[in-house]
Amino acid sequence: MAHVLDVAFARSQFPALKSGFIFAENAGGSQITQSSIDLIVDYLANTNVQLGADYSVSVTATERVYSAAEDARKLLGAADKGEIVFGPSSTANLENLARGMEESIQAGDEFIITGEHEANCGPWKKLAARRGAVVKYWHSTPTNPNNPYSLSLKVEDLLPLISAKTRIVAFTAASNLLGSVVPVEAITKAVRAEAAAKGATKVEVSIDCVAYAPHRRIDVQAWDIDFCVFSFYKVYGPHISALYVRAASLSSSVSSLVHHFLPSDGPYKLQPGGPGYEALYGTTSVLPYLLSLTPANDLAATFAAIAAHETTLAEKLLGYLTAPAQVARGLRVVGVEAPSTDRLPTVSFVVVGDRPMGSKDVVRVFDRRGGIGIRYGHFYAYTTASRLPPPVDLEEGAVRVSLVHYNTLEEVDAIIKVFEEIFA
Ligand SMILES: Cc1ncc(COP(=O)(O)O)c(C=O)c1O
Repeated sequence: MAHVLDVAFARSQFPALKSGFIFAENAGGSQITQSSIDLIVDYLANTNVQLGADYSVSVTATERVYSAAEDARKLLGAADKGEIVFGPSSTANLENLARGMEESIQAGDEFIITGEHEANCGPWKKLAARRGAVVKYWHSTPTNPNNPYSLSLKVEDLLPLISAKTRIVAFTAASNLLGSVVPVEAITKAVRAEAAAKGATKVEVSIDCVAYAPHRRIDVQAWDIDFCVFSFYKVYGPHISALYVRAASLSSSVSSLVHHFLPSDGPYKLQPGGPGYEALYGTTSVLPYLLSLTPANDLAATFAAIAAHETTLAEKLLGYLTAPAQVARGLRVVGVEAPSTDRLPTVSFVVVGDRPMGSKDVVRVFDRRGGIGIRYGHFYAYTTASRLPPPVDLEEGAVRVSLVHYNTLEEVDAIIKVFEEIFA
């Protein structure tokens, strides 16, 4: 049964939303729930000690931190919480991972990366340079012949890049610039089949879920991937990142540099779901918030409801941006133009034609008026942004409106109203 998202309930969980400010830069970082704030305050006030000692406060602190691994395991769909490590950011986690893999990479190995966010590109490029591996790019290409900026990643552009030497394939599950959702499971299956047919003996797949995780459900086991990362600060929680490394890769590819994985069996006293657990953790983390969004108490139901609501937001915004009057004015969506559940409400555009307008100038109007937060730039998807055809100034990049499930159609109307004034 499909559940309809109760947006008013969702909004009521976020203190920042009470101000009336329209948060439309969520791809840069979402707002945080009151329950996460309470947990952080309580942790710092009452259990801010070194983990692992035997005195009572340290035991509680250790349990609290380790319980987060169980939540991350569920959010990632991982088999075991021993496959999870936390770090300050996804960028740092992937850099640590790449450094930990140094010894398992040989000269001549091939890495296939995208031009998406540098977090899942830079570490592989640097590792390749250190070890003499070869980097190949899987570039996004236009989907609408009338809009050269309507870019998305297509599997048919990826498969020819695979060879017997392919070692790493790294891509995003969703682009923080283009907004498209990439079918990770189908692509990974195609990659593995192609790699096997061409004689590649060990291919590890690294997926950046930072832009994807606030909107759609991750399932590392169903996707058959080896590495996955997302950041809680974009998923309604604090500034911390979870990295998944499949157990087989942990034992065969990654050295002791990445040694902070959490033991799968403890030292928990309070087991998730067991007596006392709910009181300490149950109402205070990201996972319970997501589960509370539908009566089903199930992540699949939550993300289905989120996807349905978000698609109505994207529909409205994309409907405005791609209407004949806006196209004639020079507005071009950067990314897939058609709304669907495979399209996030992360919507970027540029203004070209005989009355071009810099992205900075568009956003400046919003900032002067106040009340709505949006942003312009390359959003660290340097390679994609610097290859936009025809080119745009990398410093200006694109205007981006990035919405999540707590945004409303009324907020989209307010954003469109400002665009109408700017592009009149
Ligand atoms: C797609 C994508 N990947 C990676 C990152 C980097 O995440 P972090 O800030 O946790 O390093 C971001 C941040 O904006 C992102 O949007």
